[in-house]
Amino acid sequence: MSEPLRLGVIGCGMIAQAHAAAIRLLQEDGVVRAVAAADPDDDGVERFAAIVGGLERRSRDGLDIVRDDEVDAVVLITPTRFHRDYVLAVAAAGKPLFTEKPLAPTFPVVRELCTAVAASGIPAQVGFQSRFHPIVRRLREIVETGELGAPMGYTLRDDQYWPTGAIVPGHTSWRSDVAEAGGGALLEHSIHSCDVLGWIFGPVSRIYGTKRHVFGYTVEDTAALTIEHDNGVVGNLVTIFNGVRGREERRLEVFFEQGALELTTDFVVGAPEDSLLIQRPDQPAERVDVAALRAEWFTRDGCDPERQVWVYQFFAHRAFAQSLQAGRAPSPGFADALHAHAMVEAGYRSCERRVPVELSEVLGDA
Ligand SMILES: NC(=O)c1ccc[n+]([C@@H]2O[C@H](COP(=O)([O-])OP(=O)(O)OC[C@H]3O[C@@H](n4cnc5c(N)ncnc54)[C@H](O)[C@@H]3O)[C@@H](O)[C@H]2O)c1
Repeated sequence: MSEPLRLGVIGCGMIAQAHAAAIRLLQEDGVVRAVAAADPDDDGVERFAAIVGGLERRSRDGLDIVRDDEVDAVVLITPTRFHRDYVLAVAAAGKPLFTEKPLAPTFPVVRELCTAVAASGIPAQVGFQSRFHPIVRRLREIVETGELGAPMGYTLRDDQYWPTGAIVPGHTSWRSDVAEAGGGALLEHSIHSCDVLGWIFGPVSRIYGTKRHVFGYTVEDTAALTIEHDNGVVGNLVTIFNGVRGREERRLEVFFEQGALELTTDFVVGAPEDSLLIQRPDQPAERVDVAALRAEWFTRDGCDPERQVWVYQFFAHRAFAQSLQAGRAPSPGFADALHAHAMVEAGYRSCERRVPVELSEVLGDA
């Protein structure tokens, strides 16, 4: 077996704890080893260190991680506005990168980072962990095999409690400020769904969007998109940051030529909300055993189905390390992120202009 991939982590806040839980399990498997972490907040680093165990080096400056000769790959988990400088530094250093989404608050910076990463040739993965959800994977398999015929249209609802300190004690509040976050429910949260929709139904051609700011922040808490894909599939996405603490769900209904399905997913492995219902012609609807489905996908992935994994970041980090070991480009990568960001940007431009916006305009004019 090859040596564990030595990870250096920049940013040890809220979601870094999910990464830490994933990394800890992968350390047990000898796949990775967290050797260094940086955050201006010492408590954050200590919290991260307590979860992963055995952290060798700590810093308040993320550039120490980039410069560290004993860090093989960098994991970037700072608030979104700090991604730019670190991504450029990691690309310049030629190190593999696993970065959280969104790539940046504004689309021109997203373009800049995608160009820099492509030019540098570094292997880079983006934190769209929904792609590793067994129900999402099963849906993609149904679309790819055509077992229900071609997909025709879909309706998707994302909702999440407001992930900001004013609503959830202990959370930071940068997500409420458009200058820091770049956007609200659509960019910060539903970029995951934009990625999933592009991954499953293919590239998007056109988007019409509208949004609201019900809670009075500078970022939107409510947005609705009508989405047209290049292959003709049409759908809509409604995303809400609401006041119901603890709630974060994706509800998707897909209509095919010969069937329909309804799925609900949550961000935690084995969440009670998870469900999948498949309707075929002239048959009672099949309520899929999601625990069995999860065990099947764990097994297909070479992971013990009894393993106590609670975050999909486990599969994302595992795929990242395996890609580097095999010399493959990690996935989802920056090109995937560019498409998801272009969907969000087209949505925002459409909200401003109140007319549909072509993705070719967004991708061509930056
Ligand atoms: N994939 C997902 O589902 C998911 C979920 C939540 C957050 N995120 C993304 O992860 C990133 C972090 O979000 P969070 O919720 O953990 O934020 P957070 O505010 O809870 O934590 C961010 C941490 O980064 C630290 N930090 C700030 N400036 C820094 C700098 N210059 N260098 C190093 N560290 C610095 C802060 O001190 C803090 O500890 C964001 O981009 C967010 O959009 C992704």
